[in-house]
Amino acid sequence: MTSKLFLRPALALISVLSTSKATLLNPDKNFPLNKLLRWTVYNHFCAGTNSKEVSKTVADVKKIGYQGVILGYSKEIVLDHNEKLVVDESGSAKYSDRCYEMVEEWKNGTLETLRMVGPGDFLAVKLTGAGPIAVDAMAARQPMPEAMAKAVDEICIATEKQGSRLWLDAEQQVLQKGLDNWALETMREHNKAENPIVYNTIQAYLKGSNANLDRHLTLAAEEGWTLGIKLVRGAYIEHETRSLIHDTQKDTDQSYDLIADTLLCRRMPADNDTLPFPKAALFLATHNAASAAKAISTYQERLLANKPTITLECGQIQGMADELSCQLVQNYERALEQSSAANLTVPKAFKCMTWGSVAECMGYLHRRAIENRGAVERTQHMVTALRRELWRRIIG
Ligand SMILES: Cc1cc2nc3c(=O)[nH]c(=O)nc-3n(C[C@H](O)[C@H](O)[C@H](O)COP(=O)(O)OP(=O)(O)OC[C@H]3O[C@@H](n4cnc5c(N)ncnc54)[C@H](O)[C@@H]3O)c2cc1C
Ligand SMILES: *[C@@H]1O[C@H](CO)[C@@H](O)[C@H](O)[C@H]1NC(C)=O
Ligand SMILES: *[C@@H]1O[C@H](CO)[C@@H](O)[C@H](O)[C@H]1NC(C)=O
Ligand SMILES: *[C@@H]1O[C@H](CO)[C@@H](O)[C@H](O)[C@H]1NC(C)=O
Repeated sequence: MTSKLFLRPALALISVLSTSKATLLNPDKNFPLNKLLRWTVYNHFCAGTNSKEVSKTVADVKKIGYQGVILGYSKEIVLDHNEKLVVDESGSAKYSDRCYEMVEEWKNGTLETLRMVGPGDFLAVKLTGAGPIAVDAMAARQPMPEAMAKAVDEICIATEKQGSRLWLDAEQQVLQKGLDNWALETMREHNKAENPIVYNTIQAYLKGSNANLDRHLTLAAEEGWTLGIKLVRGAYIEHETRSLIHDTQKDTDQSYDLIADTLLCRRMPADNDTLPFPKAALFLATHNAASAAKAISTYQERLLANKPTITLECGQIQGMADELSCQLVQNYERALEQSSAANLTVPKAFKCMTWGSVAECMGYLHRRAIENRGAVERTQHMVTALRRELWRRIIG
């Protein structure tokens, strides 16, 4: 990925493979293509094609020392346009049976994914995966349709029963307002214990992200439920209305660090600061070492000074920023040698992964490739870290 020469044609190829409907270009039907993709990108970024492969990847990751994993299912169901609506006797359009079947299929896939992780792990839930019933209502900022609400309820209950947790992935702004409302509704319903079962995602690159955090904090405080926040910078800068996003990378960085600081220091919004800070937990999802270091040092300082803070956990995506992830693992292990688990001042480290057949993962791989497109600058430090580690092992 650091080579411009390879990256351009590879990106073009992955783009074609992720959209083409031709059998010859379907990696699940074309064996040599399947092998080629597995050796190059799939094995690096994806957890496996079935329960057996995924379990092995999860076990391997935990053997390295990660405290847990986050697992998502990559399948994105596509629907032909003429399959979506049918006209009933009264002449009005309604969703076809196929649409309701998609909600069921999505729920089944999500529950299957849940069974591949263990207590303490996370399930990554992509609500748009449930198809047009979910997407249309989300875009129109309507309440969750009944079929969706039932499916989400079942997923949350199964997650809690297993001792796991789940987070709702953030989407583009056209959907995110509706999704935030659904997330608040789900947290209100299921986050009644000390630690959250459901986490919503806040995208710090949005100019409105701070106000969004305030809304979450106020509602949780007023209504007395536990707030779970996964904090990301945001992945849709290429497709989003640019004016909604901070003007510069520096502003995004500041916004990210400020939100983490607000939560870790338990600050209520200025106009509602008479409310007590709610029970809350923060998952820091970032590949940015400076942001991670800042949040972790705030967290540590507060714990060591006996000041109140909230639970902090960190995670990176499989195949990316291993140098940061492994450093977090090492810090955790060192701290554990010196202190009891109850007294730790360092966060747990997680790896976030996606499973699905090679064809199902093409869309996901395409997004990872785009994310690394500014390749030379953005991945050079990973290459340096890998070279140094290789050398250390040869010498060692
Ligand atoms: C575990 C995990 C889960 C994730 N889940 C989601 C999710 O559900 N939804 C989602 O949207 N993303 C998600 N992401 C991706 C995330 O939003 C970022 O795109 C990605 O992590 C890169 O950001 P970074 O914090 O690692 O830092 P960096 O690599 O330091 O920052 C890059 C980011 O900065 C921002 N940026 C870049 N250029 C500019 C500019 N000119 N002006 C303003 N801002 C700029 C963009 O957000 C860009 O992604 C997830 C990431 C991780 C690690
Ligand atoms: C979902 O799972 C249930 C129970 O395992 C099964 O009966 C049903 O046919 C599945 N539905 C779909 C659409 O896959
Ligand atoms: C403060 O709380 C009130 C109602 O309790 C709410 O209307 C207002 O939006 C809140 N302010 C912020 C910044 O969330
Ligand atoms: C935690 O640390 C404090 C102070 O460092 C110490 O007094 C206490 O005994 C420790 N508790 C446990 C369970 O190790």
